[in-house]
Amino acid sequence: MNKITEKLISWYQENKRDLPWRHTKNPYFIWISEIMLQQTRVEAVKVYYERFIKELPTLEDLANVKEDKLLKLWEGLGYYSRVRNMQKTAKILIKKGFKNLPNTKEELLFLPGIGAYTAGAILSIAFDIPTPAIDGNVYRVLGRVYKIEDSIFKNSTYKIYEEKINKLLPKDQASSFTQSFMDLGSEICTPKSPKCSECPLRLECKAYKENKMENYPVKDKKIEQKIEERIVFLFVYKNKVAIRKREDKGLLASLYEFPNTLNLSSLIDVENELLEKNIPILSTMEIGEAKHVFSHKIWYMKGYLIELKKPIQEYLWVTKDELQSKYSIPSAFAYFLEFIMNR
Ligand code: ADE
Ligand code: SF4
Repeated sequence: MNKITEKLISWYQENKRDLPWRHTKNPYFIWISEIMLQQTRVEAVKVYYERFIKELPTLEDLANVKEDKLLKLWEGLGYYSRVRNMQKTAKILIKKGFKNLPNTKEELLFLPGIGAYTAGAILSIAFDIPTPAIDGNVYRVLGRVYKIEDSIFKNSTYKIYEEKINKLLPKDQASSFTQSFMDLGSEICTPKSPKCSECPLRLECKAYKENKMENYPVKDKKIEQKIEERIVFLFVYKNKVAIRKREDKGLLASLYEFPNTLNLSSLIDVENELLEKNIPILSTMEIGEAKHVFSHKIWYMKGYLIELKKPIQEYLWVTKDELQSKYSIPSAFAYFLEFIMNR
């Protein structure tokens, strides 16, 4: 067994809180406690839990209870969709002939109101089946122990934590393992001023070693993606199309592009500009819209094909062959490049 796992489990066995749902292995009861604990503090949940399992001691009782009575049992806990989903789940299971919750991740995830965390909690706590249950406590403890630099607000970060916890999960005692994070996270490894001197993981903990506990878990905000609406022009003169070189700094630096502007100026402005320059337009055609996602920006582009009687001086006029062999047009313009190549 991993050293960290060993320490967590023995710490838990010495220090676990005495909570009502820790006197049972009944998956139905464990499930109720987990749903209640999702948005409500442990202290507040205790009385609700006791009353709920006394009034509705079996899955079948929950499936059959009148809605008024059910909502009364939940009154004060808030987020009533949680208990409505619980009854839906109970009805589904009873109809299928179950007497209690199933013991596989696949079956659990299929049920209303049960996601990866709840499924993991039920499987590990009630059935001792090693399954990760990743909540805020796990993010905090593991984020600090391993100094994980990935922001927990990034979707891809979940699997980084999942891998870490899968390596730590013991074959048996999954129940103690999962609950050790809940207690360590609320009693010792707290968000502010963790009590590291009392922590069983202090020798392993990288954040503690560098006194950077409060920097973890990393919570960098998602990057704000600025939205830009742009008009893209495919100016065509004889068998050539207009491109221009982008600035040597910034987004897509030094690459070639089709002339485009922010959508502040309209098509009419451009047509007027051409008239002023004494460049007659043969035809104008809408050619559709495209979207491109950069790391910090999203472009919504609308395109026009404009056939001209004379070339506009400031652009580079190239044939399709040259466009393909000589100039790199960034993929942001792929839709319009394809349009011109197929024309
Ligand atoms: N928070 C969520 N589940 C919990 C549990 N089983 N014990 C204590 N706190 C929790
Ligand atoms: Fe959390 Fe401190 Fe323990 Fe590290 S040593 S896990 S920061 S309480």
